[in-house]
Amino acid sequence: MRQGYQANVKIGVLTGGGDCPGLNAAIRAVVRKAESLGWSVLGFRDGWAGVLNRDTLPLSTEATDGMLAVGGTLLGSSRTNPTRDPDEYARTTAVFGDLGLDALVAIGGDDTLSVAGRLAGDAHPVVGVPKTIDNDVAETDACIGFDSAVTTVAESIDRLRTTTVSHHRVMVVEAMGRHAGWLAAVGGIAGGADYIAVPERTVRLDAIAKHVRDRQARGLDFSLIVVAEGADISGLEIQEPEVEATDQFGHVQLSTRSLGEALAHELEDVTEMEARTSILGHLQRGGSPTPFDRVFGTRCGVAAVNLIEAGELGVLTALHDGKIVSVPLTQIAGKTRPLDPAYFELLTLFE
Ligand code: F6P
Repeated sequence: MRQGYQANVKIGVLTGGGDCPGLNAAIRAVVRKAESLGWSVLGFRDGWAGVLNRDTLPLSTEATDGMLAVGGTLLGSSRTNPTRDPDEYARTTAVFGDLGLDALVAIGGDDTLSVAGRLAGDAHPVVGVPKTIDNDVAETDACIGFDSAVTTVAESIDRLRTTTVSHHRVMVVEAMGRHAGWLAAVGGIAGGADYIAVPERTVRLDAIAKHVRDRQARGLDFSLIVVAEGADISGLEIQEPEVEATDQFGHVQLSTRSLGEALAHELEDVTEMEARTSILGHLQRGGSPTPFDRVFGTRCGVAAVNLIEAGELGVLTALHDGKIVSVPLTQIAGKTRPLDPAYFELLTLFE
């Protein structure tokens, strides 16, 4: 591993996978810190696709000024996976020599970071930054974008509660999160949901129906239920997505399970209450980043450049007990971070 870098260093930065608020904060911080060292920064468009296609744009403090509070990613993103094809992987590894890059900062979730981990394993100079509204990157207490998405879920539940109460209905709110329940659990708890279903804790349809009826019996003739798109509800017939419909990392589009619709339909039958569904979808990926995500994105971006300067490569900037530390990318390969079981007590207590 090369020791600390000298001046006139050139680094790259990319954002891959699902976008989220806070990405521009991280990009802005990478640029600001790099320029403070006299380095230059090259942005790659659309994640690993930009590396493959050498689709770049020079970044500067001026180009990223004012981006702190802007959602999405000024670089664009994609779910391109260059490790699937040997020629594409070879072209990816050649980018450092081709463009004279001393290092590359990859901002992404477990898919994007798995590519960075492969590069790190082959001794290429990469540093990862954890980003995903799913909050399921291993070895870090938080990912950029999660806090902003939680805020959107909680605010959406606040809005849905009044109409649910007014019409004495069951409202099923479907949250994203892929196979992790962080977003549904934390957003649901923050919104005061009356029931929350997450992938990490299988629940039964009849138990949900009983909960709704018990509320009715207590005069609470409305129920707002949050379900994670990947939740497992036994007794509920749903159409599992076609395996063929997968992205380049092998993920199916979980929204095609239509879990929320199926649950609302069943509950309407068994409780004789009107039921409706609200699929939050990509609203959870939009909007301006919360102050937490603005600051966390900034801290990660600066930390990534500091690690490069120190010659500490092949690592992820991770949040541990409030501090930004570095964790080897090879240590997170193939791992995700399911919802902490400590939340199950809250899910049960506030049902
Ligand atoms: O990984 C983030 C995420 O928003 C998941 O929660 C969701 O299942 C998926 O991306 C949606 O993917 P796309 O934006 O490609 O439809």
